[in-house]
Amino acid sequence: KANTMWGGRFAAGPDAIMEAINASISYDQRMARQDIEGSRAHAAMLAATGIVESSDVEVIREGLLTVLSEIEGGSFAYSAALEDIHMNVESRLTEIVGPAAGRLHTARSRNDQVATDFKLWVRDQMDAAITGIEALQKALLGQAEQGAEWVMPGFTHLQTAQPVTWGHHMMAYVEMLGRDASRFRDARARMNESPLGSAALAGTSFPIDREMTAKALGFDRPTANSLDAVADRDFALEFLSAASICAMHLSRFAEELVIWSSAQFRFVALSDRFSTGSSIMPQKKNPDAAELIRAKIGRIFGANVALMTVMKGLPLAYSKDMQEDKEQTFDAADNLMLALAAMEGMVRDMQANVPSLEAAASSGFSTATDLADWLVRALDMPFREAHHVTGSLVKLAEDKGCDLPDLTLEDMQSVHDEITAAVFDVLGVHNSVASRVSYGGTAPERVREQVARWRDRLG
Ligand code: ARG
Repeated sequence: KANTMWGGRFAAGPDAIMEAINASISYDQRMARQDIEGSRAHAAMLAATGIVESSDVEVIREGLLTVLSEIEGGSFAYSAALEDIHMNVESRLTEIVGPAAGRLHTARSRNDQVATDFKLWVRDQMDAAITGIEALQKALLGQAEQGAEWVMPGFTHLQTAQPVTWGHHMMAYVEMLGRDASRFRDARARMNESPLGSAALAGTSFPIDREMTAKALGFDRPTANSLDAVADRDFALEFLSAASICAMHLSRFAEELVIWSSAQFRFVALSDRFSTGSSIMPQKKNPDAAELIRAKIGRIFGANVALMTVMKGLPLAYSKDMQEDKEQTFDAADNLMLALAAMEGMVRDMQANVPSLEAAASSGFSTATDLADWLVRALDMPFREAHHVTGSLVKLAEDKGCDLPDLTLEDMQSVHDEITAAVFDVLGVHNSVASRVSYGGTAPERVREQVARWRDRLG
């Protein structure tokens, strides 16, 4: 039979395949709360402007609450024939309150309705992402505070570069996550305009009050162009790109945790709560959570690319293509929140292996730069020459199979006769990190300042 919402010009109902490709209710039911919130705001406005009798609006607004409680209680029967959450809610409202329900859709279209619902949903996710990020930052601050002085190798090219502090490494992620949170904040501020009242695409001839509905739904103002408002999915794209960048950051840390927890590195022990065993190899403790966080970037970035591709080349205004915005965004949001929560748990639980970090920091000639800097300072050598002399000393140590601090003064002087015993003071890893006091540097005191600054900021 023809659809009850628009059946007027239809003689036949849809083919089963048509229904299958067209219906979005299996997933857009996740926007039920936003849909009802939007409808209640719209209805209140219809009464305030005299477009619909207050008595009908009261019935509608009450009925919508009943529908919401049915949905939240799990007794709501979704129908694919009714396509989406908007028509499912309206149809059930009609069953509950009768003909008054038919007045709810006055001065509204599903096009501004879905844009509104989806914006409300994405806005909540922006907030949730910020909350998740801040929780992870706090976990990292805990590690940084505890290990402000622990020395570990800093890498470039994953080759030993210079010693850094554990706290400094943790704080690097606090900075990245801080930018991630600010991206969500920026995007949230930019998206916070209400599409409701844009109707199908051209606005409406009814004397609606868009400021009123915007305010009721927590938007800063109504959107200024109805064509744009119903055709815009930038807000979801900004969410997905901010989510992609955040997930990329998480994947880098996850990768480090995978490496660090290996028997070859032994930098950290992950807790049992965030590891798994092997069904065959009894010794195994696998960093699965880190691996999965590392992999989540795939689907989140995929969602970003998918929606960009859906939107590319779409003529104004609404096209059904845009219904494909939701599943991708829902999946990306779910997985970002999961990744953030898992990372927070892992970071809270993980135990740094301090002796092993320090041993690794001391190997690989990690204080060669300190030696070169000493030659510059103590012997007034140009840095390029100091670099060369130090290179020869490294070569000598390598040939002798020892580290730089193990060379004798005679060894040192065989390369450059003005070197004195004072050079040994700068070859230790603790001296090395303690000397890096430039702003933003790895010295424990600088790290503690940054921890304090972030504690202050995060409250
Ligand atoms: N389910 C649709 C979506 O998610 C709602 C909007 C339908 N609008 C329309 N003109 N068919 O995009």
